[in-house]
Amino acid sequence: MRLLITAGPTREPIDPVRFLSNRSSGRMGYALAEAAHIAGHEVLLISGPVTIPAPSGVQLISVETAREMFDAVRTHLPGCHAAIFSAAVADYRPAQVIAQKIKKSADTLTLQLERTDDILGSVRSQFAFTGFLVGFAAETENLIAHAQDKLQRKGCDLIIANDVSQSGIGFDSLENEVTLCLPGGQTMPLPRQSKTSLAHELIQFISSSLPFVASAKNGHPASSIKPPVNELLATATEAAHAAGKMIKEHFGSDLTVNEMQRHDIKLELDVRSQQLITDMILARFPDHAILGEEGGETGGNGDVEWIVDPIDGTVNYFFSIPHFCVSIAARKRESKELLIGVIFDPMQNETWTVIRGEKAQLNGKPIAVSDRAAMSEAVVTVGFSKSKEALDLGFERYKRIAYEVRKTRMLGSAALAMAYIATGRLDAYVEEQISLWDIAAGQLMVEMGGGKVTLKPSTTKPGTMFICASNGKLPIEEYL
Ligand code: CTP
Repeated sequence: MRLLITAGPTREPIDPVRFLSNRSSGRMGYALAEAAHIAGHEVLLISGPVTIPAPSGVQLISVETAREMFDAVRTHLPGCHAAIFSAAVADYRPAQVIAQKIKKSADTLTLQLERTDDILGSVRSQFAFTGFLVGFAAETENLIAHAQDKLQRKGCDLIIANDVSQSGIGFDSLENEVTLCLPGGQTMPLPRQSKTSLAHELIQFISSSLPFVASAKNGHPASSIKPPVNELLATATEAAHAAGKMIKEHFGSDLTVNEMQRHDIKLELDVRSQQLITDMILARFPDHAILGEEGGETGGNGDVEWIVDPIDGTVNYFFSIPHFCVSIAARKRESKELLIGVIFDPMQNETWTVIRGEKAQLNGKPIAVSDRAAMSEAVVTVGFSKSKEALDLGFERYKRIAYEVRKTRMLGSAALAMAYIATGRLDAYVEEQISLWDIAAGQLMVEMGGGKVTLKPSTTKPGTMFICASNGKLPIEEYL
């Protein structure tokens, strides 16, 4: 993605040798620029005067005044997918810049100041930016209330709030301690840490929020892309069938475990299945990128990114419970627009396919979400995620939902839950922590069938998302 970051202080001239400024070192913004570059993003850093060097690989535009920063942002914002405003922009500047150095004479000197432009505040209203918008709020009192107010006023998707009354964090310090404020009043405190490690966590959080911005909600067909979407779908289906066949062959046998976590299991077969899918896709489209659950990004810099879950429902698979699948989606690299999706359940021999703009199909026949609009009629599946905080949130939600609905189910595969909603077998699915590969293909299937998918960054784990997917008729949101 292309990312714009503002950083550092601004300097507002008083006369040729004096200026008004602040103690911002620029470290937070520079650390964010570096972390974003390392994460593979294209970064444009618009910076006021600082003494630290620009991170390598980042495009730097140096400015002095708030007005110059405003102009640079206005010029460079179009085409960016996200913008982070970390600069400590002067709120006031001298109303007049004196042409000659002011000589000392009287005992007092009065400077008249005027307001500068609010750059972040202009992004939605004046520059009509529609990407992911992040601001900082440095406060000395009522941190969360002020930050939430800023979030709303400036149309941000995220405000990073820090209490600058505490010593050792924030301005001119090496460390920072922030709380993330999200729309809808959600907050997520992050531990005190170096600005470098915080920057990595923030970039991961922002990038994981982005893929979901470009949802298929309006259902319009995929804008032109090469190769044609049906070629993408054919390759995805072939790869899902090959991987599904392989994992089915090993079902019920002794399995090699790569990692046993408290609430999760990673199998060697996950890695092999992903490798098989990756090889099949790259053999056809060598310049496409592959984002897989097992092992990050591989492939080239082409227009298309593939999102692969080689076994969704690994814990079921490990315990010989025959409910798991392979999930593959492709999306446009730039816009993150989902193009196609395939989910294959090798045990039931069920293949779901979807192309953006068309109805999803199950084994070649069109499917649709259910019509059930009353909670008392609904069958809802709730996923229980892996951290204590997420479990606790899940329990609360489960209680609220379970009292209302006909039945609840816990099935163990997010991708199949989505496919089941697209097919009208289930009416809704709620989970606190999911990743892109769990739900990318299913999201397109649900949305193309008239259902609704709401995704928000999870407040319990950076890099994961909260999901509520439904048939679009159930008032499930009221019970979350
Ligand atoms: N900001 C900006 N342009 C300005 C002032 C602030 O882009 N002229 C951005 C900052 O980079 C930061 C956010 O706005 O991301 C909040 O800055 P802050 O000074 O805390 O907020 P203000 O809206 O100026 O609010 P207040 O002075 O009332 O706290």
